[in-house]
Amino acid sequence: MSSEPHIKIAPSILSADFGRLAEEVQEGVKAGADYIHVDIMDGHFVPNITFGWATVDVIKKAAGHVPLDLHLMISDPDRYLKDFIQAGADILTVHVEACSHIQRTLTHIRDLGGKSGVALNPGTPISSIENVLGNLDLLLLMTVNPGFGGQKYISSVETKIRRASEMLKSGGYQSELEVDGGITPITAPHAVNAGATVLVAGSAVYGNEGDPIVNIKKLRESI
Ligand code: DX5
Ligand code: ZN
Repeated sequence: MSSEPHIKIAPSILSADFGRLAEEVQEGVKAGADYIHVDIMDGHFVPNITFGWATVDVIKKAAGHVPLDLHLMISDPDRYLKDFIQAGADILTVHVEACSHIQRTLTHIRDLGGKSGVALNPGTPISSIENVLGNLDLLLLMTVNPGFGGQKYISSVETKIRRASEMLKSGGYQSELEVDGGITPITAPHAVNAGATVLVAGSAVYGNEGDPIVNIKKLRESI
């Protein structure tokens, strides 16, 4: 069992049935999702391509009061921050590997009225963002290499989750600590024990023609 008071669950609609996108988002909301996680991919920073603003707008309407957690897997994200905020992003997470001036980018997100997030690939050290912890509302540690749903959880990232959690706590920072990739009822308790406070789950919620409500319940019961 975790010592955290409330671990947030963020279903990733990447694994949803896009023909029923609005309904799938609403099922996540009904199941008590804390955030709806939206993966934006550009075919450049990662090999895959997903959604643009028009789709984010549809997802926002379906999500109602549940905040949108936008995960930008795109090169040079500064070009598009304003558009994604206008389309309804509440949390806007950029990859540190995609930004030349991460402090400026995070400050810009907050200036636009969003919550600022930064994501780190499994191979990127925590030292890359230790000087911007005060500019962060959310730190996303990838537990797979980004680009696709349904990949295997990389358990060695847990060392980094532990270190990040200690750094945030000892510095008195309020940032959430999110993990993304391969999260299931088997892996979720390990990530939470290492210090994760937000769990993104795509295929474990929407995959295998399962029922998102049942699947989110299973995830909650596992931690
Ligand atoms: C992967 C995306 C994830 C993806 C996770 O690059 O960032 O959000 O949807 O999918 P699962 O939970 O299936 O690993
Ligand atoms: Zn993601």
